[in-house]
Amino acid sequence: MRKLLFLFSTILLHSTTKTQAQTAAAAAAPPPAGPPNITAVLEKAGQFSTLLRLMKSTQIADQINNQLNNSNTGITVFAPADNAFSGLPAGTLNSLSDQQKVALIQFHIVPSLITAQQFQTVSNPVRTQAGDTDNGQFPLNVTSAGGQVNITTGVVNTTVSNTIYADSELAVYQVDRVLLPEEIFDPAAAAAAPAPGPASAKSKKKKGAGDGPTTSPSKEADASSGFRINRVEMGRWVGFLVAGSFISLNLLL
Ligand SMILES: *[C@@H]1O[C@H](CO)[C@@H](O)[C@H](O)[C@H]1NC(C)=O
Ligand SMILES: *[C@@H]1O[C@H](CO)[C@@H](O)[C@H](O)[C@H]1NC(C)=O
Ligand SMILES: *[C@@H]1O[C@H](CO)[C@@H](O)[C@H](O)[C@H]1NC(C)=O
Ligand SMILES: *[C@@H]1O[C@H](CO)[C@@H](O)[C@H](O)[C@H]1NC(C)=O
Ligand SMILES: *[C@@H]1O[C@H](CO)[C@@H](O)[C@H](O)[C@H]1NC(C)=O
Repeated sequence: MRKLLFLFSTILLHSTTKTQAQTAAAAAAPPPAGPPNITAVLEKAGQFSTLLRLMKSTQIADQINNQLNNSNTGITVFAPADNAFSGLPAGTLNSLSDQQKVALIQFHIVPSLITAQQFQTVSNPVRTQAGDTDNGQFPLNVTSAGGQVNITTGVVNTTVSNTIYADSELAVYQVDRVLLPEEIFDPAAAAAAPAPGPASAKSKKKKGAGDGPTTSPSKEADASSGFRINRVEMGRWVGFLVAGSFISLNLLL
């Protein structure tokens, strides 16, 4: 906890410095064209009303927009359309806690720009804003060949079907299915990961469960490493969206 508090003050300091620098720059130069706006992008594309609703209710839309405005590392969003959400078993979303909804949406966001060309060379697992990429947590693998981009979470396999939007800061790719993370949707894998237990615990009838390895050793203490690695990005949010960042902090605690 003390470490987190320290981290938090460091982040605040970091973003204050940055804000001052940006204010100075803004005074010196004419305002640039506005940063991309994830809400506007998805609204314009149409067919993303469920994702938009979730992004708004979790405040992740605001976080993304603030991040786009305040950092230059870029953001990649994997966007399932409404028909992907309606393809989920009935009640799937309603069964999630608010925290799980946040994690689900964060799992669709990569805190860096992945261009279409870079899909071929991306190193797996890809770290999303949901955090830990260990098996049973939030692994996301992307492979590409011959113009086809495959994505697997260990629970679902899907493909990128369309580029919705791409500039030098933001890339939004439509995916055919909702990316379900193991941590939430494959409890057997999640339970097996921290302490490889009886392999029989892995439920074969779990809908959509893959055959991925479930015995990879994992560090429970690693819950904080996602935060540490993400703190630069987080730092950029904080000055402008303290409330939003607290949600993320809570999630990782
Ligand atoms: C982003 O777009 C939405 C919808 O078009 C708008 O309501 C919102 O104010 C915009 N946000 C920013 C930061 O410009
Ligand atoms: C982007 O950030 C600057 C301060 O750095 C702020 O003045 C501006 O209103 C922000 N723009 C949007 C669209 O949020
Ligand atoms: C993508 O998935 C399809 C169908 O499972 C498979 O045939 C193809 O080889 C995969 N391509 C890559 C690059 O993983
Ligand atoms: C993702 O790729 C890594 C490295 O190749 C592999 O160890 C891991 O099992 C894969 N995870 C999934 C869910 O496919
Ligand atoms: C996903 O694809 C991999 C490799 O093609 C396969 O082994 C696995 O069973 C698939 N998982 C699901 C959930 O379809």
